Amino acid sequence: MTHGVPSEITPRAVYEGRRAWLKEAAALGGAAVGLQAASGLWLSGEAEAATAAAPLVARPGVLAPLPGVRSTVAGAYAMDKVTPYEKVTRYNNFYEFGTDKEAPWHNAGTLKPRPWTLSIEGEVGKPLKLGLDDLLKLGAMEERIYRLRCVEGWSMVIPWVGYSLSTLIQRAAPTSRAKYVEFISLADEKQMPGVRSGVLDWPYVEGLRIDEAMHPLTMMAFGLYGEVLPNQNGAPLRLVVPWKYGFKSAKSIVKIRLVDKEPVSSWTKANAREYGFYSNVNPTVDHPRWSQATERRLGEGGFFAPRKTTLMFNGYEAQVGQLYAGMDLKKYY
Ligand code: MTE
Repeated sequence: MTHGVPSEITPRAVYEGRRAWLKEAAALGGAAVGLQAASGLWLSGEAEAATAAAPLVARPGVLAPLPGVRSTVAGAYAMDKVTPYEKVTRYNNFYEFGTDKEAPWHNAGTLKPRPWTLSIEGEVGKPLKLGLDDLLKLGAMEERIYRLRCVEGWSMVIPWVGYSLSTLIQRAAPTSRAKYVEFISLADEKQMPGVRSGVLDWPYVEGLRIDEAMHPLTMMAFGLYGEVLPNQNGAPLRLVVPWKYGFKSAKSIVKIRLVDKEPVSSWTKANAREYGFYSNVNPTVDHPRWSQATERRLGEGGFFAPRKTTLMFNGYEAQVGQLYAGMDLKKYY
């Protein structure tokens, strides 16, 4: 089975239900579109009402649909079976809400994805402060099915919705001194109980080289499975860099800084030997404490199912290999 178009990912009835909802919302003249903070339903008042009995989001068809999505991604990496929605939204790493895999699903209801402002600053000709409505309109929403490979050795296949990060960065007119891009997540202990813990140095910071950030595969995601991002997946906007270990894909981003020096990410600060700046998925470079040669695909057969072979650059070598031509990937891990 392939998963190239949204209708193959989401049961038809769910899609039709959403369309009916959209019409209704339009008929209400926007009254249904409000600030839905607590349960993460950040486009839709009706959707929140629909989940009053089950406030934690873990089934498709309950969050607001992202309108205007066109499916664009096909090719080898779209042939993998998409990971069930329940896995994608209940098995998460989002340490601002706790370190257990289900903690973000349980705790992220306190995150308020609206109102939200993203600033783009640093080595740019035009510093920007953009609200969520502007961000949602800034580029054409595309559905892209990407593999996500966590450094811990598990993986998923997720139908993200968003647009290339380059669309956003170009707006700010980077200067010639912009060699790297730093991403800074929200760190508000009122909304994020985990920020009171010392597990990482908050805020969560990540970084990319400018050419990595401008690569068309690098995505700013606003949704998954055709709907706005559930809070636990990094609402209202998060990075997705599919050829790097998952921790490079920072969630709930409030600031993007273009800089001339390599940023130090939270994970590098925590343990530079284990979590390098590049962190490209690479089956030949092991984590100091475990092999990276194989991975467990979530939703496919449980803990004892045969592991999959991990692919160089997570299967995106043809697209991104040239970014690292001539580099010793054992040194720049
Ligand atoms: N972003 C923030 N702000 N905080 C985090 O703890 N965890 C990272 C990354 N982004 C994390 C984060 C890790 S380790 C992974 S594997 C992915 O998010 C997981 O994304 P998912 O939960 O949507 O699958």
